[in-house]
This record gives sequence, structure tokens and C-alpha cells, in this order.
Amino acid sequence: MTFLEKIVSLSKRRGFVFPSAEIYGGLASVYDYGPLGVELKNNIKRFWWRENVWQRREIVGLDSSIMTKKEILKASGHEKMFFDKYYECPKCHRRFREEDLEFEDKKKLVCPICHFELIGPKKMDLMFDVGNAYLRPETAQGIFANYLNILKTQRLNPPFGIAQIGKSFRNEVTPGNFIFKTLEFEQMEIEYFVPAEKSDEFYHYWLKQRFNWYLSLGIKKENLRIREHKKEELAHYAKSCSDIEYKFPFPSIEGDYTWKEIEGIANRGDYDLKNHQVNSGEKFPLPLPYVIEPSAGVERIFLALLCEAYEEIKGGRSKNSSDEIILNLKPEIAPIKVAIFPLLKNKKELVSKAKEVFDLIKSYFNCQYDENGSIGRRYRRQDEIGTPFCLTIDFQTLKDNTITLRDKKTMDQERIKIEESPWIIMKKLKFIY
Ligand code: GAP
Repeated sequence: MTFLEKIVSLSKRRGFVFPSAEIYGGLASVYDYGPLGVELKNNIKRFWWRENVWQRREIVGLDSSIMTKKEILKASGHEKMFFDKYYECPKCHRRFREEDLEFEDKKKLVCPICHFELIGPKKMDLMFDVGNAYLRPETAQGIFANYLNILKTQRLNPPFGIAQIGKSFRNEVTPGNFIFKTLEFEQMEIEYFVPAEKSDEFYHYWLKQRFNWYLSLGIKKENLRIREHKKEELAHYAKSCSDIEYKFPFPSIEGDYTWKEIEGIANRGDYDLKNHQVNSGEKFPLPLPYVIEPSAGVERIFLALLCEAYEEIKGGRSKNSSDEIILNLKPEIAPIKVAIFPLLKNKKELVSKAKEVFDLIKSYFNCQYDENGSIGRRYRRQDEIGTPFCLTIDFQTLKDNTITLRDKKTMDQERIKIEESPWIIMKKLKFIY
């Protein structure tokens, strides 16, 4: 099994990610997020929102509609310029983006699998047309279209930002690599409005901020890099742009991995506001600010985190145990924070006390009650999904109201009082959402 196959297998087996419409044969490159997946996704989004909205005085949030009036995406240049050119194999129908092909003479392009001559170039519009609207291909345009509303209601002056998290849709020519490139995905974007003459300074400021955010999420520095776009690579709106890339386990000519984008940071100049001003006929205050845009993909971060956290331990961590898988997720973003176990499921007093503890802890943290199998096996099940803490209710609990707190990372156990347990865990987690 390749490393990526192991991640796909764990994702499915433990309820992180399922192929969409599986009972009907699946829908290519579309995925559903299971009970653990939705928690992990929400935690990534909250971790981002907390740092970029709650903890900043000059950034406010927005949730604009996914269905986007065509005029908006016409004004932004997407209607005309947001397409890919591609070549297709007439036999296996595999598609290749022109951008990804390296060739001297286009006529001689052949399919690497069937060796048939490729047909193309063909044009693929990347936006999904839904009648009198498009499904948005980036959340950014909803922000620009609300620029005046925010100015009128929020008393902000540049530098200030508008942040948004939400779904975007692209009819990609070459989706793939599990959840890395899909037709439906979530973006976390900030449009940060700055005086034109300071745009370069803020561009570099945001590159640094965003790089450090990935380190705080627990991604190792050696698996991250910044790559600046060449002039010919720049999107139609960008003056400059750099990608934060992660070393994904996709085999390539580089080896068992490929450096791939998880986030782009662009200087969009005044391109968008200027175009919306001209096309809407609305009066925008002069002079127009420039925009620095950090734009990240939730699913790509999700995948990077799983790859980063996945560890196989041959022979397990404790005596007489078998091979183990551990997810070394940061406790702050782990799907479940606390697992609660009665020592034995056939002892009524233990079960009812454990349910009492669950009722106490559930007000503070996302927790899970589990009474099945040996305690060792229950610990391993939680280690595999990255749960940082387990609480066990045993016979001593019935005498003195204490329980054991087991730390996933160190496997240390300490005896604590039930009534103090939420505060002790809170202190260890450093914060709660
Ligand atoms: N508003 C700027 C913008 O949309 P982008 O580089 O096209 O820039 C930003 O997209 C981020 O969105 C990417 O870094 C990536 O994480 C995510 N993304 C883009 N297309 C995606 C796709 N088809 N599947 C999953 N994530 C995608």
C-alpha cells in the first residue's frame, strides 16, 4: 500500500471521508465527510477563524451566497478568462491540462497509457452555470461585491480585512489525488484592503503570517515551502502571488512526494474593486485600496494534516500489543477531545457513573462514550483518531469520585477528581472553542 492509500483507507475505515454517492457507484472526485471528518474540518475552520477574525480588531467576517449573479463574475473577468485548455485521449478519455504538458511539438502528443495521439487543445469553462447564476469559483467575489455594505456598516479604514469561509466549485479538467483536487471544496479567504503604496509590505507580512499559521497547526517546517509564481503563471487578476506548498505523498519525478499548493497569497491590486465600480455603476470612495489575498483550501489542509499526523508503530507502544496506528494531531484540532470509558460494561454502577461523567464533560468538549472491548483496545481506537485524553471510571471511582486521565501523547495516567476534570483538561488544551 502506498502512503496515500493508507490515508484513504484510514479515512474510510474510521469515518473521516467517504466517496460521495457510494451506494450508487460513486460520483467521481466528490467526497462526503463522516462523523470524524466533519469535526476535523470544523476545527480547522475555527482555528483559522479564531486567529484571523476573533483575535483581530481590523478583520470582520462574512458569509455571502454561493449562487453568484452572472454580472459579478463577468465583471471579475472569470466569465471570459476562467478556463483550462486540455488534450484528451480518444481511447481512454484521460485528460491532460495544457499547462501540465511539456512538449516541443504539440502534434506529436500521445497518451502515456494507450499511446494514441491526443486530441486538442479543447477548452473547458471552469465555472458551473446554474441558469441565471454561477456557483462561485472562489469566495472572494462575494467579498468584493459586499465591499460597500461593509464600509457603510462597520466603520473601517484601510488597512482592514474581510474574511470568509465557504464552498467553491470548479469544473476541473484533472481532479484527483483523493481530496486534493475536487469539483466542490471549501475555501478560507481574506481580502485585506491596504493603501496602494503599502501593498508590497502587506503582501510579505501576510506570507509570513500564513506560513507561521501552518507551523502552529502542527505541520513540520521541512514539509512546507513558499514558491513565488513566475510572471506567466499569474492569475488574470494578480500583480504578484506566492503559494505555500506542502510536501504531499503523491509520487512524481521528484520521488515519493510532490510539492503542491495548499494556499495562495496574492496581491490583486485594485483590479476587482475597479471592475465592480465600473460595471455596477456604484460610487466607491476614492482612492481605491489594493487587496492582499491569503486564500487557503480546507480539504488540502485536512489532507496535509492527516499525512503529517499518521504514524505506524510496529509492535505497538505498550507491552504485548500488536501494530498500532496513531494520529499525532494537535489536541486543539483533534475531532474528539475526550473519550470516556467505564472499566467494565457489565457493571451497572460503573456504567451509570461513566454516563454521569459524560454528561459533565459534554458541556465543555466534544467527547465520546465507549464501553466496548478491553481498555487497551479502547485506548488504541482513540489513538488512531487522535483523541488527546481518555477518562476511565473504575471501582475506586465509586469510593472516592476520582477517575484516571490518560494522555495520548505520553500514555501517562493520573488520578483526578471528577469535579475538577473539565478544568484540568481545559488547562492542558489551552483553549476551547
Ligand atoms: N481567490 C483566489 C483563489 O481562489 P486559488 O489558488 O485558485 O486562488 C485558493 O485557490 C486555494 O483553494 C488553493 O490554494 C487550494 O487550497 C484551494 N483549491 C483551489 N481549487 C481547488 C480544488 N479544485 N479542489 C480543492 N481545493 C482547491
